Amino acid sequence: MKVEIYKDYEALSQQVGMKIAKQLNEKPHSLICIAGGDTPLGLCNFLIQLHQEKRCDFTNAMFISLDEWVGLGYETQGSCKQTLYDSLFTPLELKENQIHFFDGKNTNLEEECEKMNQVIEENHGIDLIVLGIGMNGHLGFNEPGIRTEKATVVPLADKTKEVSVKYFHKELPLVSGITLGMDQIKEAKTIILMAASDKKKEIVKATVQGAVSNQVPSSLLQETQAILCVDEEAGKELV
Ligand code: F6R
Repeated sequence: MKVEIYKDYEALSQQVGMKIAKQLNEKPHSLICIAGGDTPLGLCNFLIQLHQEKRCDFTNAMFISLDEWVGLGYETQGSCKQTLYDSLFTPLELKENQIHFFDGKNTNLEEECEKMNQVIEENHGIDLIVLGIGMNGHLGFNEPGIRTEKATVVPLADKTKEVSVKYFHKELPLVSGITLGMDQIKEAKTIILMAASDKKKEIVKATVQGAVSNQVPSSLLQETQAILCVDEEAGKELV
């Protein structure tokens, strides 16, 4: 794992954005995956700016979702689908056939998993994935202690349920999540792990310098070519 520390959130968002632009410049049909959550929001804004200024062409890019809360769809403010459609896909003027997103409301979740596995296989893997880090080190909804290979439905960790309040401003009866598997994440050709702000400093340290253990899923990326991109606040415990 390589570490890049940027002076603030804006610089972090722009530099990760430039990596995506470079990827699309080199391979316009890339399969890209960007996490929901708060951390990539600045990146999304920057990508929209690149699109509006015609500095990056998204017309052939393919996007796949990382995860979704089981039971939620676009109509729930704070779901991964609502976040990514409103913050990125719609402003980028993507066509529906450029997007493959988990439907957390499908009563047949196995079908959802199969659908994503197929997209990844047909595209020979994910070209570039941007991940956030959960407060417990989860990646997507790959929670501590769970071993996943491909897309899977997993029970949510208590910490994840607790933190979820920040997206929905109220407690929802969330029990499980649907997520790409750890192997699919680890096999992505470019892996970018993003973290920002002081509240992520401990988990960032555990990710980079802690034991490699599936008790802290983000630490498993120490064994990969992942690039951890952080702002100074999130990186300040790194020695
Ligand atoms: C969201 C996701 C999660 C988040 C993580 C960090 O789609 O996959 O793993 O990336 O929980 O969330 P934020 O960025 O809100 O701190």
